[in-house]
Amino acid sequence: MISPDRIEAYIDSLNTGNTPFLDRLEEKALLENIPIIKRPTQNLLRFLLTLHKPQRILEVGTAVGFSAILMATYGPADCKITTIEKYEKRFAIAEQNFTDSGYAGQIRFLKGEAEEILQDLADAGEQFDLIFMDAAKGQYLHFYEAIREMMPAGSLLISDNVLQDGDVVESRFAVTRWNRTIHSRMREYLYTLTHTDELITDVLPVGDGVALSIRKQD
Ligand SMILES: C[S@@+](CC[C@H](N)C(=O)[O-])C[C@H]1O[C@@H](n2cnc3c(N)ncnc32)[C@H](O)[C@@H]1O
Repeated sequence: MISPDRIEAYIDSLNTGNTPFLDRLEEKALLENIPIIKRPTQNLLRFLLTLHKPQRILEVGTAVGFSAILMATYGPADCKITTIEKYEKRFAIAEQNFTDSGYAGQIRFLKGEAEEILQDLADAGEQFDLIFMDAAKGQYLHFYEAIREMMPAGSLLISDNVLQDGDVVESRFAVTRWNRTIHSRMREYLYTLTHTDELITDVLPVGDGVALSIRKQD
């Protein structure tokens, strides 16, 4: 059996990269230990943006704006992206990156705790065609109630890091005590996504694990 690492390395060797701006941003983020989506996840996102053509995009977890700019770059020309971040040190860097990318006009940057902002957006009746969940893994379940209110039929929810480097498939006793809460919350989140009648969900072993959920017709 070929090792998963060799498979991933081979697939990555076929990767032609993103735009020069995104490639530079990725390099800088990796040098500065800023968490951004992995290359296999970038590819999947580019593919889904081309397939699904979302006009209204919501991202939870901006960091320095890499994935928001990737979505602006590969999404439809007139798509609008709302992205949420709570870590103050990243606000100015993300804003500068949005300006430098040329996509600032398409990106609404909301600063603060996602749980509150998501509820405000849901209460305001906002709807999104694609939601990219890429924030604190232990909180996905808390975000879900507001997220589902903002998903019309046919909308796509992409949840990143759902397998946590494989930890989620281990018994809870095989992960460190520190990670056990996240482990059980992530399992509950994946169980919810896969067992609700509202969604069709598949979990892919891409990057750190990606769950793809589509909202069914009512
Ligand atoms: C993995 S990084 C996002 C990377 C980004 N999507 C990219 O690929 O360029 C996760 C980000 O979510 C933010 N975050 C985590 N929990 C959050 C919360 N509850 N509310 C808002 N932001 C949160 C973190 O501060 C961090 O910058």
